[in-house]
Amino acid sequence: EQNERDSLFIVSDFANKHFQHNLHQHEQGGIGQSYLKQRGLGAHTIRKFELGYSLDEWSNLTDAALKAGYQQEYLEATGLTIVKEEGKKYDRFRGRVMFPIHNVSGRVVGFGARTLKTNDKKSPKYLNSPESEIYHKSNVLYGLFQAKQAIRMQDLCYMVEGYLDVLSLHQGGIENVVASSGTSLTEGQIKLIARYTQNITVLYDGDAAGIKASLRGIDLILENGLNVNVVTFPEGEDPDSYIHKVGDTAFKAYLQEHSQDFISFKTSLYAAEAKGNPVKKAEAIREIVASIAKIPDSIQRTVFFRSCSLIFDIDEQVLISEYNKMQLQGR
Ligand code: CTP
Ligand code: MN
Ligand code: MN
Ligand code: MN
Ligand code: MN
Repeated sequence: EQNERDSLFIVSDFANKHFQHNLHQHEQGGIGQSYLKQRGLGAHTIRKFELGYSLDEWSNLTDAALKAGYQQEYLEATGLTIVKEEGKKYDRFRGRVMFPIHNVSGRVVGFGARTLKTNDKKSPKYLNSPESEIYHKSNVLYGLFQAKQAIRMQDLCYMVEGYLDVLSLHQGGIENVVASSGTSLTEGQIKLIARYTQNITVLYDGDAAGIKASLRGIDLILENGLNVNVVTFPEGEDPDSYIHKVGDTAFKAYLQEHSQDFISFKTSLYAAEAKGNPVKKAEAIREIVASIAKIPDSIQRTVFFRSCSLIFDIDEQVLISEYNKMQLQGR
């Protein structure tokens, strides 16, 4: 109901301002400041993305909000306050750098929060707001509010995994970047991007999980009729670590030089195995045909069948009959 939603927006806005105040004005904020500095983030980026800090105390935010007249009901509904059985109230986010998550119109709907401890196995690296009346994870993209104009201007959206990837790229002059942050890419998120561009380039982490997420993301993007490219990073690097390693200019050049369409991405992924092994080669081709099969537009499919046929030196008709077979099997 509208009233409840409004109340959740208002209390989230209060929390966002409170966390920013902590970072910039509170004596404890220096811990957060130096963490962000150590991550290479400057004052402009910190302000632009409204980063904040939650004090390392049990109920600093909850106390401040109640004192200011906000109702406990809404603090609970946004997940900012957790109430124990005995009625004891405490803050969900404590001693963490806060990343407010905005909807496309710029209202805060939730938070991501990173621990400052680098090697603490006990507390999770990131905590996120739970689903609420105003926060549906699968329909929000981190950074989209700050990126949407650049996405439209460049007619391209870079998709990364995490908060820090968005911030570091944005700061390095690549402003058309968003993150699905913590959830695997959804159809709702792709439809949000489709308001601004039909072109997505996936920049996932250079690890097995990143490759797997890229494969899944590619098919979902194709299914929704958008164009997809992929850039992979050296093992162990993510866009944030890599831009800091090589610098902004070299990073931009890397994106240009390493952007591949999904066919060449899948081809190179299976190439090592496929070499001189006809069974593996057939497998690779079938994987690519399966992706092409997701594309709703028949002319686009035809273009990709042609390019696949050239790469693998295999008759287009063979690919198309494989495609038809998949259609019959409902794949
Ligand atoms: N994530 C999360 N919960 C976790 C781990 C990750 O929600 N326990 C989400 C966060 O949005 C995070 C993204 O997944 O930004 C990518 O995770 P990962 O690559 O592990 O973290 P990084 O963003 O690279 O974190 P950092 O560089 O701060 O170590
Ligand atoms: Mn930087
Ligand atoms: Mn990762
Ligand atoms: Mn990462
Ligand atoms: Mn990282």
